[in-house]
Amino acid sequence: MFQIKRICCIGAGYVGGPTCSVIAQMCPEITVTVVDVNESRIKAWNSDTLPIYEPGLKEVVESCRGRNLFFSTDIDSAIRDADLVFISVNTPTKTYGMGKGRAADLKFIEACARRIVEMSDGYKIVTEKSTVPVRAAESIRRIFDANTKPSLNLQVLSNPEFLAEGTAVRDLKEPDRVLIGGDETAEGQKAIRALCAVYEHWVPKERIITTNTWSSELSKLAANAFLAQRISSINSISALCEATGADVEEVAKAIGMDQRIGNKFLKASVGFGGSCFQKDVLNLVYLCEALNLPEVASYWQQVIDMNEYQRRRFACRIIDCLFNTVTGKKIALLGFSFKKDTGDTRESSSIYISKYLMDEGAKLFIYDPKVLKEQIIHDLSQPSISEDNPERVSELVTVTSDPYEACQSAHALVICTEWDMFKVPVTFYYYFYFFKCFVFEEYVRKHFNSHICLIPPQELDYDKIYKNMLKPAFMFDGRRVLDHLHPHLQSLGFQVRFTKKKSSNPSIM
Ligand SMILES: NC(=O)c1ccc[n+]([C@@H]2O[C@H](COP(=O)([O-])OP(=O)(O)OC[C@H]3O[C@@H](n4cnc5c(N)ncnc54)[C@H](O)[C@@H]3O)[C@@H](O)[C@H]2O)c1
Repeated sequence: MFQIKRICCIGAGYVGGPTCSVIAQMCPEITVTVVDVNESRIKAWNSDTLPIYEPGLKEVVESCRGRNLFFSTDIDSAIRDADLVFISVNTPTKTYGMGKGRAADLKFIEACARRIVEMSDGYKIVTEKSTVPVRAAESIRRIFDANTKPSLNLQVLSNPEFLAEGTAVRDLKEPDRVLIGGDETAEGQKAIRALCAVYEHWVPKERIITTNTWSSELSKLAANAFLAQRISSINSISALCEATGADVEEVAKAIGMDQRIGNKFLKASVGFGGSCFQKDVLNLVYLCEALNLPEVASYWQQVIDMNEYQRRRFACRIIDCLFNTVTGKKIALLGFSFKKDTGDTRESSSIYISKYLMDEGAKLFIYDPKVLKEQIIHDLSQPSISEDNPERVSELVTVTSDPYEACQSAHALVICTEWDMFKVPVTFYYYFYFFKCFVFEEYVRKHFNSHICLIPPQELDYDKIYKNMLKPAFMFDGRRVLDHLHPHLQSLGFQVRFTKKKSSNPSIM
């Protein structure tokens, strides 16, 4: 059996970096080199401040960097030396020409294929890790065939990555499955076996699935489409709940207990974000159209349309509650990453909610525990968001590193990301109540320790926030992370809103 001793991964992003770090940790006898054209990214991978935030990733990198894990910009040498090359570059939605706004832009994949064939000699396995349209491997193979030389033997595999940002290390160490697609020829099967052997270092054999190349490529697109569809489905039901008086959390619980449905991905929210769901569903839609399957295309397009509708509906709800105008009003937006435990803002719903509020002239004060100020300003300055007027962003947006400053004198607080620090466990509030009611908090503060803080500093003190906001103080919980605290927050004086909720209690709309 062909044994892989050296791996090169092209693309040191959210997939290439964590995936290859885990491979290096699990396979100490394999040398893994992650390369990228982006020098600052590589520099960061070689520093104490990694370019991406993922729980547990720093420990993995530090355990093998310099031993059998390397980050480099010397792409050619890494390709030349490798037995296996992962292509893990970005495949964004096309922003020009045919398929603009829907098709995947494969120019980075093509650039990699050309470089690989130029730099290679002898036998090498080339593996698509990026998410690509079905039959992308065929295009790679055509580039190889058109540029082949004597003694060159390049085998193409598909090995899509299913990790989720925020839980990448756990997903990589304990994957639900590893999928490897390749040719049904003897050569193809040999390459598949070699890659299986890498994963078998830590993944049980029964979780490693092998298929033909096209099934593997399509499975990744289909998996993301199904996940996105579940979110859009529950969000569509949330609109119906608000119109009828049903509670979407109760409905989600009831339907999720059906084992055929399951309870995951049934949380109504401000919509899905991230670099993949929208891009991959759009890619699927484009593929269906190109294959003359218009009914299938429009079925999946609805998943995207529903997501946009949910974001717009949430922003409209904020404007509506703030007496139909937010012009010049301070609004605190808590959370900018597309989900908790990542600093990634690509396609984050926060961007679109900010856009709708900026369009109405609201003054936004944004806080996120992991997203850099420059990133937020960059995202909001994109022409599609700031209406070709990036000055508006400096006029209307302030990014702060202090959530209390963001909320100071604000008309409304909007939670856009489900960060744990926004959640405050209910038990803590019981404890807080106990002290407040029975031990006389003020007395404790005065006589024992004037700085005593009954709320741990890593979690938000909504009492303090409420006191410093303008009244009525509105709270829009776009992730429903504070459902369990609504009675308490209302007793503090907050006007708590998710989206519109029919209720006999006038303080909950
Ligand atoms: N982010 C996720 O959660 C996730 C999960 C599963 C699959 N994917 C897929 O994996 C792929 C990569 O996603 P990502 O989030 O890591 O993207 P990313 O943008 O974070 O990283 C891609 C990297 O590739 C580099 N690159 C581009 N062209 C290059 C070239 N010719 N040579 C060397 N480097 C080059 C870029 O500089 C960039 O650093 C995409 O197809 C994506 O759809 C992403």
